[in-house]
Order: sequence, then C-alpha cells, then structure tokens
Amino acid sequence: MSRTVKDYIRSIADFPHEGIVFRDVTTLFADARGFRMAIDQLLHPYAGVRIDRVAGLEARGFILGGALAHQLSTGFVPIRKKGKLPGTVISEAYQLEYGEAVMEIHDDALQPGERVLIVDDLLATGGTAEAGIKLCRRLGAEVIGCAFVIDLPELGGRKRLEEMGMPVHALCEFE
Ligand code: PRP
Ligand code: ADE
Repeated sequence: MSRTVKDYIRSIADFPHEGIVFRDVTTLFADARGFRMAIDQLLHPYAGVRIDRVAGLEARGFILGGALAHQLSTGFVPIRKKGKLPGTVISEAYQLEYGEAVMEIHDDALQPGERVLIVDDLLATGGTAEAGIKLCRRLGAEVIGCAFVIDLPELGGRKRLEEMGMPVHALCEFE
C-alpha cells in the first residue's frame, strides 16, 4: 500500500513536556514525495477558488505557506510571535495552556478585500489560528479558510474555528 501523509509524521513521546506526544512534521517535510503530497492535498479543496495571499503561522506554517504561495503564484505573509516582525504591527493575544501568547502581523501586509488562506502544520485548541484570523480580519482581509496538515480533534480547534464561520481543511487526525 502507498504511504499517506499521516505515515510520514513522526510521534515523539514526552516533548516538550511529559505526557505530550509531539507530532513531528519534519519527517514529512524532509521526504520529497511526502512534502509534495502534503502541498497538493492542502490545495485540493481550493481548486478554482480565488486566493490573493497565503498567510503562514509561525513556525511550521512558514514552510508550508511558502510552498503553497509558490504553487498558487500568490504572495506570502508571515504571522509571527510577538517581537519578531520589524515593521509596524497589530497584535492579538490568545490563551495558552498556562498563560498568554501574542501573534502579530505587519499592519500593511494585507489590503482590504484580499482573500487569504491561512496555513499551519497543526490545529490543537485553535488559539493560534483564531488569533491569525482576527489579525487578517482587522486588516480588512477575508479569510477564506484555514488549512492544516494535522488536526487534534480532542482539543476542539476545528469546532472553535467553525463557530467563527471559518472552513477548516485538515489532512489527517491524531487522537
Ligand atoms: C504549535 C503548532 C501550531 C500551534 C497549535 O506551534 O505548530 O502553531 O501549536 O496550537 P493551538 O491550536 O492550541 O493554538 P507552537 O506553539 O509549538 O509554536 P512553534 O510553531 O513556534 O514551535
Ligand atoms: N501543538 C500542540 N500540541 C501539539 C502536538 N501534540 N504535537 C505538535 N505540536 C503541538
């Protein structure tokens, strides 16, 4: 049987904390067939859909987003953790398991009315993606969907994003 995208993802126990099984996409990205399969499948639902920009969530969303933007012949926009972007930014705070984090986007990165696809490697609680969606919307852009390699459905991210009216596309799930 031929390998699926999920087959290329490595699971590492107790990283970054005891009890967490880390779903490691570096093994997917490192494999030429796996990486191409992931990019093709991430784009599949958007055939014939107008997308003006791809926005990637730090950090692994940059790797996927660059490849998607190249394939779509669009520009790429990074959504980064606080303090990393050099220009004027807008910020959105979101909840982590312990404490708070902040995502930022350059305030001139998107134009009103632009249609944006947001991408990341993994959807867990949805906090990171929700912050990304809010940032794009605050710049007047229309987020047409969020695409992920992995969904962890038990953590509720898909439900959270769908409740914001956001279509979610994920290539595989882990319990
Ligand atoms: C991981 C993952 C997503 C986020 C998903 O990134 O790559 O960006 O968590 O979690 P959420 O749905 O609960 O918000 P991480 O926070 O490990 O940061 P990194 O990409 O900088 O390693
Ligand atoms: N982010 C949140 N949970 C994760 C997991 N299990 N593997 C990789 N990244 C994650």
